[in-house]
Amino acid sequence: MVLDQANSGAVVGDTLLDLAGDGPLVSRLERALRDAITSGRLDAGSPLPASRRLAQELGISRWVVTQVYEQLVAEGVLEARVGSGTRVAAGARLGPTGAAATDTLPPLPRVPAYDLRPGIPDLRHVPRDAWSRALRDALAAATADDLAAPAAAGHPAARAAVAAHLRRARMVEAPDTAVVLTRGATDGMDRVVRALRAAGHTHLLVEDPSWPVLREVAARAGVVPVPVAVDEGGVDVDALARAARATGARAALVTPAHQFPVGVPLAGERREALLAWAREVDGLVVEDDYDAEFRYDRRPVAALQRLDPSRVLLLGSTSKTMSPAFGIGWMVVPPAWRATLSAAPGTAPSVVDQLALARLLTSGGYDRHLRAARGRFRRRHDALLAALATRLPDARTSGLAAGLHLVLHLGQAAPDAADVVRAAARLDVGLTDMRRYQVEPAPTSRRLVLGYGNLVDARLDDAVTRLATCATSRRDG
Ligand SMILES: Cc1ncc(COP(=O)(O)O)c(C=O)c1O
Repeated sequence: MVLDQANSGAVVGDTLLDLAGDGPLVSRLERALRDAITSGRLDAGSPLPASRRLAQELGISRWVVTQVYEQLVAEGVLEARVGSGTRVAAGARLGPTGAAATDTLPPLPRVPAYDLRPGIPDLRHVPRDAWSRALRDALAAATADDLAAPAAAGHPAARAAVAAHLRRARMVEAPDTAVVLTRGATDGMDRVVRALRAAGHTHLLVEDPSWPVLREVAARAGVVPVPVAVDEGGVDVDALARAARATGARAALVTPAHQFPVGVPLAGERREALLAWAREVDGLVVEDDYDAEFRYDRRPVAALQRLDPSRVLLLGSTSKTMSPAFGIGWMVVPPAWRATLSAAPGTAPSVVDQLALARLLTSGGYDRHLRAARGRFRRRHDALLAALATRLPDARTSGLAAGLHLVLHLGQAAPDAADVVRAAARLDVGLTDMRRYQVEPAPTSRRLVLGYGNLVDARLDDAVTRLATCATSRRDG
């Protein structure tokens, strides 16, 4: 059905074809039809009025309508069949350029309303203003030399600022020249495993459980990850040395400040033993320092790197302190690997972002942000423990008062963690089964890795109540 729209538009089906705007009538009608189809207001198969009729309704020449129909038929957006008129083609979906597109971009995954997933920082407190200021000031002050081709290891000002920050905050022992800028810990790891492979390494010892992404990065570079068990003292260094002997591995990836995901620090004597092993085999220890800025019960333990700067390569990033969206990280590289890793054609962050990071660090803005974040996370950590104790008295938690996650051990009567995760998802609660981080996922699991980085404080009680509903329902429920 076509109704008169005072010569500026017409209704086709229930859809208004609006010809308002600039340009020739042909373009305006074509745009109006494309918009109606792209937005789904005109479905595949919808009949269009005969050209004469639509021309009359729009008060335009029939020629305009036939031009547009013919163009869209030629593109496969419309189809014209003798006897049944013109219709929207089956499967017609238009991209914004007007080209018929068969695929549409999937939307970004939705953040659950009750976000208890680990590894996610506080997305409501990303330091937007401080970063914007740092970016503006850095760009205003940048010289022509700054804005020339980027240096592979990073801009000297950014390397120096990161080095100064790490010496102070993580007690890292390193000159400015040891720091290489990366797009994050994953990018850093990618460069490291490629360098290891090129130097003849075939295996990498990894903690089990651990973050699978870095294991996969190693495997993709042709370096086989060898799992080593973790207990309450962190990675089992005796087991690590045995696995090293069995496989010939001479490199290890560890999370000494706060094991991910078990949440414990690497015990003092194991730190020494790990470094003694590395010296003995002429090996390399990669220290993933992913969330060490956040410790709520005491000052953070110094980086392992400090104990042997010639054997430990430290990886860090702003993914936990700001957001992974910034894509900024660093590595502190031992002298023997510096030439290789400084020259590696990596994917350094943009120079403009590096200069902004340097500003944020030297102005004290980063420290102010960390202080505020630490306070928020400490309060949230304590509130989460209190809520869990009340609502899930049969469960217990483990892990340091640190970082952005803890481990929740459900009681023996609880359903399997996989069932809890599934049931919780239906209540818009994001949870993670410990199995996700195990090299060989266990047949049964009653452990959840609970993150509170992105948990909205006002929803904390409700989140735990929902979790408790799922964790205490019947096993087969
Ligand atoms: C254990 C661990 N290391 C490192 C990272 C950070 O990686 P990136 O800096 O590439 O974002 C994460 C992020 O989730 C992590 O969980």
